[in-house]
Amino acid sequence: MTHALVRILKHLRQGPVPTGELAAATGLTQGELRSHLESLTQKGFDIAVHPLLGCEIRVSPESLVAEDIASRMKTHWLKDISTLAVTPSTNSLALEYGTRGERGPLAFFAEAQTAGRGRFGRVWESGEGEGLWMSLLLHLNEPIRFWPRITTLAALSVAKVIESIQTDPRLFPQIKWPNDILCGGKKVAGILAETGSHAQAGPFVVLGIGLNVNQKSFPPSLAHTASSLRVLCGSRVDRADLAGRLLEHLYQSLSKIETGFDSILASVKARSSVIGTTLSVNIGGEFVEGLAEDLDPDGCLRLRMENGTLRTLSAGEVTLRSPRVAVGAPAEDR
Ligand code: ATP
Ligand code: BTN
Repeated sequence: MTHALVRILKHLRQGPVPTGELAAATGLTQGELRSHLESLTQKGFDIAVHPLLGCEIRVSPESLVAEDIASRMKTHWLKDISTLAVTPSTNSLALEYGTRGERGPLAFFAEAQTAGRGRFGRVWESGEGEGLWMSLLLHLNEPIRFWPRITTLAALSVAKVIESIQTDPRLFPQIKWPNDILCGGKKVAGILAETGSHAQAGPFVVLGIGLNVNQKSFPPSLAHTASSLRVLCGSRVDRADLAGRLLEHLYQSLSKIETGFDSILASVKARSSVIGTTLSVNIGGEFVEGLAEDLDPDGCLRLRMENGTLRTLSAGEVTLRSPRVAVGAPAEDR
């Protein structure tokens, strides 16, 4: 990522600006500015240069550009952002970086994934230009015992970003414990957190997020369960803007992984689609049923079994079968 391009784009987003002013504001010579504007053109921007008004962004590229995403962010907390045309899986890529000792925080976005995956190696459909398929490589400072909270933090960030662009209360984003975000009962996003370690760089976590953005429809196997922001909002959504908002929200949430997590949990519970419902849960091939009563202080699910005992389940060990009977939950939670 070229930082001068980020600075230029930040200024241009505020409206037309004379080239001399832009060069001075970004600390560049006129010659350097010209060459950077040329790079932006090569990256897909259409930038007009008027003799009086100066430079103006006419069209931004459809595909994700790292500098464009960074220019939408207020907090520059990432060491780098990479945008790829295609990769098997951004999680696999971030794991590779972490395993060879690269230090985060790094963000990887791909236009398409050929082997996008969900929990337990399930296939994650990641069509070209249709979503945000992204992973963060993070070397968190907080003790490892807090790291399992990251899925909950990310789920809330995704829900809040969706809320910020989609305001129909009937489609209020819900969190289906542990890693899905639903709107109108359909899955719009999923989260996959994985960990690794390097002898010198230490342990790391890869936080993968798949957010369906501009799909108009889904393959028959997903048509009944999946949705996209475009389907929900009725129009195309700007992915670079969304990516910037998501990274900003993630930064805010991640700062609460140790202290402040109770406030996160309260918001997550308020958006839970499972609390108060009876669930059938698959734990290592064995199905058990219980009432999802609450989340524990780490975001694990407290399940009240038929015999009255309480079981605490962590995200890594279980899959849910559709909730059957809702107990004391509003109708849209079912
Ligand atoms: P659980 O309730 O146990 O979390 P799940 O079906 O949500 O079950 P996950 O592992 O969380 O399972 O998610 C992977 C599943 O998501 C896939 O098996 C597939 O059914 C579904 N899926 C794949 N690609 C997409 C997509 N782009 N959008 C929505 N859903 C998808
Ligand atoms: C799930 O619902 O089980 C989680 C889906 C996570 C998908 C994202 S897309 C970006 C990153 N790369 C992957 O291969 N998976 C995650």
